[in-house]
Amino acid sequence: MTTEALIAAIAARAATPPESALALPPAAYRDETLHALERERIFKRDWLCAGSANEIPKPGDYLTFAIDDQPIVVVRGDDGVIRSFSNVCLHRMMRLAEGRGCARKFTCPYHAWTYDLRGRVVAVPHMKDAPNFRARDLALPEIRTEVWHGWIYVTLNAEAPSVATQLEALDPLVAPYQMENYIPVAAQDHIWATNWKVLTENFMEGYHLPVTHRATVGAWMPVDSTRYPNAIHDGFTYQTFEKIEGATYGRAHPDNHRLEGAQRYTTVMPTVFPSHMYVLGPDHFWYLSLRPKGVGEVHVRFGISYAPEVHATLTDRESSVANLVAFFDKVNGEDRTVVESVYANSNAPLAITGRLSWLEREINDFARYLARRLKAA
Ligand code: FES
Ligand SMILES: [Fe+2]
Repeated sequence: MTTEALIAAIAARAATPPESALALPPAAYRDETLHALERERIFKRDWLCAGSANEIPKPGDYLTFAIDDQPIVVVRGDDGVIRSFSNVCLHRMMRLAEGRGCARKFTCPYHAWTYDLRGRVVAVPHMKDAPNFRARDLALPEIRTEVWHGWIYVTLNAEAPSVATQLEALDPLVAPYQMENYIPVAAQDHIWATNWKVLTENFMEGYHLPVTHRATVGAWMPVDSTRYPNAIHDGFTYQTFEKIEGATYGRAHPDNHRLEGAQRYTTVMPTVFPSHMYVLGPDHFWYLSLRPKGVGEVHVRFGISYAPEVHATLTDRESSVANLVAFFDKVNGEDRTVVESVYANSNAPLAITGRLSWLEREINDFARYLARRLKAA
């Protein structure tokens, strides 16, 4: 199948009503030319989530991320504002910051050019005698950054509509949870051997929960409680579902006075296109932010936060967090098994894909998003 035919096949999926929708063809997860188009038309143009703002609560706290081949450092300034910069030294392109941490300034590990929290050059050793060189005029390129309900979004696209505009219709659904106050207890980065779209589609659908996750989250979720948005939104989709009484996670703490009625046991599961997904419960959230490493590998950023009243009343914080993280390691392991298998099998000569269940409605929404972005400019 040529890439043009593949894009036409995705557009045909997008044009199908959800009740008759088909999964994407196997080549959609394999085609190198399509992957190159996704990099240009999706990952360099849309907003990506670098993490949650409470992961860098204090001035100087930073985390690193990347948009396609552009390394980024996201840092909270002395004024409390979160900014993002190119994480590439202005001297000879060494990476400045690694991983996560707290810094007053960033000193390049190569020749020690040094930058403040606003990206300005503040020190350059052994350059006094360089004629016509004014280090203080130099600053790292700043990257567009927006914080929305506690999520840090970054983009290389100066023209992209603001996150707040794109997610306006999601606001009433998630605002009551006040997720911006949730407290992070774990953040991890992994690389999985799958195409990013396989993992996105896996996250979106609840169809696999009672099967793949029967030993973990699947046991607590009555699938018939699943609901979807009535409208199709450009920037996101979501589903909501309930958690049964007795579920270990996913129900409001008695001290939660924000949520009422069914909200107290309802989870909202948004996918912010292209690749930020979260499971927002009354008591915790966990999220994934994906960026492709290649057609068959994906960087997975994963984090978990507790609602503040849950965090405040933990009797043994260390073991509660360890249990929570171990539980979600298990859930992620269950997903990893299936998404790596699906990707491997997408190369099988006899592989075909089939009809989608009503519980996979968001995969059809995702096809619409892909078709919109991939169509020739
Ligand atoms: S590359 Fe950073 S100081 Fe030389
Ligand atoms: Fe899953």
